[in-house]
Amino acid sequence: MKSIMLVTTNQGKVREVKKFFEDYNIITMADAKIDYNIEETGTTFEENAVIKVESIISYMEKKDTNQYLFMADDSGLEIDFLNKEPGVYSSRYLGEDTPYEEKNKIILERMEGVLWSNRTARFVCVIAIIAPNQKPIVTKGTIEGYIGFEAKGSNGFGYDPIFYINEETSLAELSAEEKNKISHRGKALSAMKLKIESEI
Ligand code: IMP
Repeated sequence: MKSIMLVTTNQGKVREVKKFFEDYNIITMADAKIDYNIEETGTTFEENAVIKVESIISYMEKKDTNQYLFMADDSGLEIDFLNKEPGVYSSRYLGEDTPYEEKNKIILERMEGVLWSNRTARFVCVIAIIAPNQKPIVTKGTIEGYIGFEAKGSNGFGYDPIFYINEETSLAELSAEEKNKISHRGKALSAMKLKIESEI
């Protein structure tokens, strides 16, 4: 069984990736007792995903990195009415430590009075993997939707309660399996699974 080290501290991402890669051994930074803060200095999802895997590999230089595939996810929400904000700054937007309940409330206030047809948004996810002595492999997935008029649902994480896939349903109302079938992350992970099976 292949072991994948998932370079993230985001438990929402860990849950969805583990659900998707049930036939792989997914190890998190916490499992490997790695406490390392990665600076996301890129300006695109692609750059940041590769920065995450490369910086963890160089941090672990003296340890045995050959046993793992290193995988990172860089993702975010683009809201058209807000000029595609928060984009690559999604986790830092309105303050890294601000609870999402609060961030979602502020976004809904900023969108007050905006018609449904102008509330379009998308989630974007880029997955990067580096296998021992190989160049990074990158895949991307997106899901189009709308910023709802209210937050609802308690599954998922982050901006899920305000991201609607149709006029009735928010992403936070779906189970992890249902979300993975249609989400940005699910699409990027499916493409990555094919590449792992054919190229690594
Ligand atoms: P990253 O760790 O820089 O990739 O930050 C990604 C951020 O984008 C997360 O912390 C969330 O704010 C947001 N995000 C990405 N994917 C999702 C998702 O599936 N649901 C809700 N929010 C997401």
